[in-house]
Amino acid sequence: MKDLYYVLMYNKLGNAKQCKTLIKHGNIEINGHVVRNPYYQVHYKDHLTYQNQELQAQPFFYYMLNKPKGYLCANHDQKEKCVVELIDHKDCFCLGRLDRDTTGLLILTNDKNLKKLLLPQNHIPKTYLVETKSKLVKEYIIECQKGIIIDGNKRCLPAYLEIQDDHHALITITEGKYHQIKKMFLSLGNEVISLKRISFGKIQLDEHLKEGEARLFNQQEIELLCRSLHENVSTSFFKMEHRRSKVIERIMTN
Ligand code: URA
Repeated sequence: MKDLYYVLMYNKLGNAKQCKTLIKHGNIEINGHVVRNPYYQVHYKDHLTYQNQELQAQPFFYYMLNKPKGYLCANHDQKEKCVVELIDHKDCFCLGRLDRDTTGLLILTNDKNLKKLLLPQNHIPKTYLVETKSKLVKEYIIECQKGIIIDGNKRCLPAYLEIQDDHHALITITEGKYHQIKKMFLSLGNEVISLKRISFGKIQLDEHLKEGEARLFNQQEIELLCRSLHENVSTSFFKMEHRRSKVIERIMTN
């Protein structure tokens, strides 16, 4: 669901102020009725018209890309390949960045409202599969939970590590510092060999997507993503992980 004036902007009927005026003057019909509220919540199945001309109720694109190595999270670059080359709508931007050599879930959209999800205070949990050069040890779990210091003096927020075998783990972080996970493992005296993002908030990478392949979100994924703007996705995650870490800490200190 989106504000009506916002949907009109994406139908290229003007800027926010112009679209609100169009609505207030009774120029927009929804399902056959004039709607004068700019904040009317448009459902994707609504039928919208302006001067008998049909408008798109969902003029937004949300792509899930399984990012391959070697691509920059950017729209243009003089020398390098950019992820936007891998999708059809070139006016989409990346929702957050991955390093050139990181693979996995990247969301691209034209819905500028979602940029709010990237604000530091939103703490969207992002989970990565990490492969390390040296053996993973269980002490890392507590270190991650305490908050690892990177760049000499910057303490990261608690991160959650789930060791899968000697060299593979799942790690969840809720911020997006530059090269954060690589730097965290360097601080632990280890090194990242490969990194793949498998989730962003409640959105999971579709395991059927091969590296370099993209698909549009289904309606359920669109709703999950857009809803995370209005709810604190990290709160329930933090509570759950905090409880889990306390249990691990007890086991390790006994
Ligand atoms: N942390 C990193 O070090 N690199 C990424 O691409 C994402 C998180």
